[in-house]
Amino acid sequence: MNEKKIVGEKAVDFIKDGMVVGLGTGSTVYYTILKLGQLVKDGLSIQGIPSSIQTKELAQKLKIPLVSFKDINQIDVAIDGADEVDSDFNLIKGGGGALLREKIIASGAKNFIVVVTPSKMSKTLGSFPLPVEVVPFGYEMTAKHIKTLGGKPSLREISGTPFQTDNGNYILDCVFPNLSQPKEVETCLNLIPGVVENGLFTGMTDLVISLDGRNHAVLL
Ligand code: 5RP
Repeated sequence: MNEKKIVGEKAVDFIKDGMVVGLGTGSTVYYTILKLGQLVKDGLSIQGIPSSIQTKELAQKLKIPLVSFKDINQIDVAIDGADEVDSDFNLIKGGGGALLREKIIASGAKNFIVVVTPSKMSKTLGSFPLPVEVVPFGYEMTAKHIKTLGGKPSLREISGTPFQTDNGNYILDCVFPNLSQPKEVETCLNLIPGVVENGLFTGMTDLVISLDGRNHAVLL
């Protein structure tokens, strides 16, 4: 039983002909995008707006028509995964490093749908280290400022080399002992010089799709 496939595919129920659809990034929304590709092949007419190079390449492979921001006024629905979801539907995102583009897309969408397996749900955020996208210049200083907010940052690396986002930035994965006031932390982090964006998505989610005990998709 592929839990990610069940929740990912369920999200396409909300997509109608003519919609502009924000396409998230990750292994759960991957199944949403595959299903959309199938429906497009069968005649559904949508325009996608991808949140990463990886998603753009997948959508192109599936022949989902893509648009850019200059071509549209708004996004009808954005669908994306998350690394953690609290009881108020605040999120930690950015495990895949696409948080900046994902947040731009989610913030421009009329409806933001989050697809997650039950293991991502928690009462309070903080089990998953919070990804913070920072400019490479002086990132050590940026990390020091993050420490004053109570975070313990570590530079994301791949084989000893800093991971670079699609925007050419670095990611600091920050352990916060207390994220019970996520909006406050989201705001304070973005005031630090060098921080481009952080993976807290507060007050943005309209609908969460997860699973019940019998592995059926449920709308939360
Ligand atoms: C990428 C993200 C992803 O949505 C998040 O990491 C969840 O991914 P997955 O569905 O693979 O667990 O924020 O930046």
